[in-house]
Amino acid sequence: MRSISELQSLADFWGIITGGGGHVGQAAAAALMELGANVVLWDRSKAALDIASANLAEYKNQLYTICCDLAIEEDIVKGVEQYREISSGRLNFLINNAAFVGTDNLTGWAVPFEQQSYDTFSKCIDVNLAAPFLLTKLCMPLFEITSTGCRSVVNISSIYGVVGPQMAMYEGTNLGNPAAYATSKAGLMQFTTWLSSVGAPNIRANNIVLGGIYRNQDEAFVEKYIQRVPLRRMATEEDIKGAVIFLCSELSNYMTGQSIVLDGGWTAI
Ligand SMILES: NC(=O)c1ccc[n+]([C@@H]2O[C@H](COP(=O)([O-])OP(=O)(O)OC[C@H]3O[C@@H](n4cnc5c(N)ncnc54)[C@H](O)[C@@H]3O)[C@@H](O)[C@H]2O)c1
Repeated sequence: MRSISELQSLADFWGIITGGGGHVGQAAAAALMELGANVVLWDRSKAALDIASANLAEYKNQLYTICCDLAIEEDIVKGVEQYREISSGRLNFLINNAAFVGTDNLTGWAVPFEQQSYDTFSKCIDVNLAAPFLLTKLCMPLFEITSTGCRSVVNISSIYGVVGPQMAMYEGTNLGNPAAYATSKAGLMQFTTWLSSVGAPNIRANNIVLGGIYRNQDEAFVEKYIQRVPLRRMATEEDIKGAVIFLCSELSNYMTGQSIVLDGGWTAI
């Protein structure tokens, strides 16, 4: 029987994190690299990728970036080709993390329902749901030729893919809760369930379901939010590290089609 440290070792692992220039993507990369993984960050923002690379420079494993707009099919296809060359085709984990998020400044997005835009709804579904579908599909041949370590897909979802919003929390703030975001995250979770069956036994697929992360939001909003959370605080990026390591390593070898919910208890009450 292997030891815990052998099971959690990510030495020589290779993987992709989409939205790797963002907050959660960088925290996931730091955790994976600390345990030995080689990571390829994907993001549409070259500037965000450059900052992420600088922030992760302390880790001595291999770190690459691919600048790619996940709203564009051709970009995803090219990105997978680029990834194949970088990693010699080896793929142990794919973290579908990039998303249009609630705080994005988009037209007809974080506004009352009657003002939410059909066009932005569709674009959100493209990036948050159709892109993970296509990227995962194109990655299947790479998983197939990877003979050592894990073959794990991790989809980053949200409590709003599970429960409805409490709109009173947003009153008097510039924050909102778009239907498109919630719908895309619920769809992503069902894609995970579907994939855990269809992709087995070659790959495992699981979700990380996140609650709201503290980023200096409006004080009144934060106060109302934490009153609703049993652990009485919002999440931090650090909170995701353990779940990322668990799901991307052999620690979770017998787990597929499930969710790890990191929400301070939001969905438990
Ligand atoms: N922040 C939260 O409170 C929270 C809560 C629950 C779930 N989540 C989920 O966590 C994940 C990461 O969110 P975050 O808080 O780090 O957000 P973030 O905005 O810091 O990072 C998201 C990254 O995705 C990239 N991205 C967006 N659209 C893209 C596209 N079309 N192509 C390529 N890259 C694109 C952005 O450039 C950005 O770097 C998301 O899936 C989000 O839904 C976040």
